[in-house]
Amino acid sequence: MKNKFYITTPIYYVNARPHIGHAYTTIACDTIARRHRMLGDETLFLTGTDEHGQKIERAAQAAGKTPQEFTDEISAQFRSLWDRMGLSYDDFIRTTSPRHQQGVQALWRRIRDNGFIYKGTYTGQYCVFDELYVDAVGPGAPCPDCGRPTETVHEENYYFKLSAFQDQLIRLYTDQPDFIRPETRRNEVVAFVRGGLRDLSISRSTFSWGIPVPDDPKHIVYVWLDALANYITALGYGSNDESKFKRFWPADVHMIGKEIVRFHCVYWPAFLLAAGLPLPKGITAHGWLLFEESKMSKSRGNIVRAETIVEVLGADALRYFLLREVVFGQDGSFSFDALVQRYNSDLANGLGNLASRTLTMITRYFKGEVPYPSHSGQSKSDVAIIETAKKAIAEFGTLFDQYHFSRALESVWGLVAAVDKYIVENEPWALDEKKDESSRARLGTVLYTSAEALRIVTALAHPVMPDATAKIWAQLGLGDIGKFDASSLSWGQLHLGTKLGEVKAVFPRADKSAVERMQKMEEQSASQGASEISGQNASEGASGGPGKGAVDKTKALTTAATQAVSGKDASPDKASIAKPPATTLATAKSTPAPPEGKITIDDFAKVELRVAQVRTAERVKGADKLLRIEVDLGNEIRQLVAGIAEAYEPESLIGRKVVIVANLAPRKLRGLESNGMIVAASPEGGKPVLAGFLEDVPLGTRLK
Ligand code: ME8
Ligand code: MG
Repeated sequence: MKNKFYITTPIYYVNARPHIGHAYTTIACDTIARRHRMLGDETLFLTGTDEHGQKIERAAQAAGKTPQEFTDEISAQFRSLWDRMGLSYDDFIRTTSPRHQQGVQALWRRIRDNGFIYKGTYTGQYCVFDELYVDAVGPGAPCPDCGRPTETVHEENYYFKLSAFQDQLIRLYTDQPDFIRPETRRNEVVAFVRGGLRDLSISRSTFSWGIPVPDDPKHIVYVWLDALANYITALGYGSNDESKFKRFWPADVHMIGKEIVRFHCVYWPAFLLAAGLPLPKGITAHGWLLFEESKMSKSRGNIVRAETIVEVLGADALRYFLLREVVFGQDGSFSFDALVQRYNSDLANGLGNLASRTLTMITRYFKGEVPYPSHSGQSKSDVAIIETAKKAIAEFGTLFDQYHFSRALESVWGLVAAVDKYIVENEPWALDEKKDESSRARLGTVLYTSAEALRIVTALAHPVMPDATAKIWAQLGLGDIGKFDASSLSWGQLHLGTKLGEVKAVFPRADKSAVERMQKMEEQSASQGASEISGQNASEGASGGPGKGAVDKTKALTTAATQAVSGKDASPDKASIAKPPATTLATAKSTPAPPEGKITIDDFAKVELRVAQVRTAERVKGADKLLRIEVDLGNEIRQLVAGIAEAYEPESLIGRKVVIVANLAPRKLRGLESNGMIVAASPEGGKPVLAGFLEDVPLGTRLK
């Protein structure tokens, strides 16, 4: 029997429309699912929407709709966007669907009958934004995760005996080191569970937008228990027909963003253990897409919509960019400028150019039929291409299977560059002019070698760029790429005499107006969506007033434009791509070069200094000088690693306000990711002294 492969995305909240952060996870899963299908696995790719809970109930209220009307509308927006982008999900689960509700109730009964649910009273703080009970004291106390004010709840609830699973979970993480990837996330989870687990409240009774608790419908099921169950309810768990569940569960991978690791790596396995069900094989958490240096998110309003990029450059360009540019697992910045630059260098000038020059020459010199290579006359340069192609096939597979998408693509594009160089060096156009027999044979070899390498690049890149590669495949005369069995991909499969299809450019070069067009589309959408977003801010209890989303966003966009002009690798071509809006011209226009040894105000402005508060601090094992510190920036929590252990006891730092360089590129110290740097005076030969303030300053305030 075929291998089975089951992959899931998180189910997205329907409190606002989708953005490229959601698209990112869905694209990564789609790519993985496509590769598995190409290799012959029986593949199931699940996505969907998370539609219950207080956050959504309030967002619906703010929009003047019933929760069901509201969720129907937004869920459909997600789905139609995925369809428009050609995402190949096999099933789309909605938590308001009967099949899901039935499955959740079945799961509840099973956990309850196994003795892991009891009734108790909860008094404490709840964060509606995270839909999470938190350790915070007093009305309005900030949520330790996201910093938003929490609400006090006092209710009779059902509790889940999470504390009973501490040892089993630790054993799981130890026995299966790959259960949580990457390792940084695994270490965080292990530390959290080692810190002790308290029982978890798993029902709510103060609002009603949720699934009724079996046999006690005054209560509704806690939204995270409801949501996590989607991974099995979509397979028919708890229905009359569990055949799909039996075939596909456990999942091979749950793909998530790093902010929901705890729910997936602690709560979900505990629920499954309590129900006596098998655990997923692994959970992989990727990093965040940042825009204007902070997490792209609907509540912050700094989003970019996938629709805009799809319309201007196509879905394949977005897919390639996200997987090539961002190191999977780490945070990565999005900018229109970088997108267009990658598109032009790797797709228009790279793969697109290789395809059109190779296929055009075969059309012209061999009447559109793949020529014969001459074996006797194989040169060193031919052999080098064959070796590079073989290496690309092997490397791509290994790297891709470990979700190192960027490096996997880099390896394949190494082949693209090698073939380009090969063509230039072998000058097929000159060979064609000579017309003698040996030149003709050599020409056949050069074009066969180029076309065969192009075929291999196309097959490998297919899961990443399904549309463009299908076109190139057809132009190569190979028919439907969907029918190709990639498990046998090897050099030399291109048949001699294959008749090429019609040759057309697949990646037309983007000119300088592309960035402007995309920025304009986003600005328009931001102003249209202003009321929508501000309503949502209010509903999430975020600090922003009406319209904040739209204002933030406009700012984000103009800043991106400014950066495009002053960015470090601005080529003349690139500098003209982004003409900044009039309001930013003052900062964008080039300032005269400063005298030797001085910097301009623009140089200084590149350093983003912000006020942050230390939340946790601990020594780093095996490093005398280092502390691992988590700081609160007002709207996000960051981990830093700082060399101040000899000067400060970790405990003495907690609660202290410090200054950090917030836009320092992340780096790893002793295996820990450090996202920023704490600013300190560093006297010669003495211990570092942290910079601070005499007056109180709000978290996140910028120093300038
Ligand atoms: O958390 N960068 O839903 P959600 C990268 N309903 N990925 C991003 C992103 C960004 N800036 N923004 C969003 C929920 N994502 C729950 C999940 S699962 C049982 C329930 C992606 O709408 C990323 O995958 O907040 C992240 O984990 C997810 O969207 C969160 O979507
Ligand atoms: Mg979220």
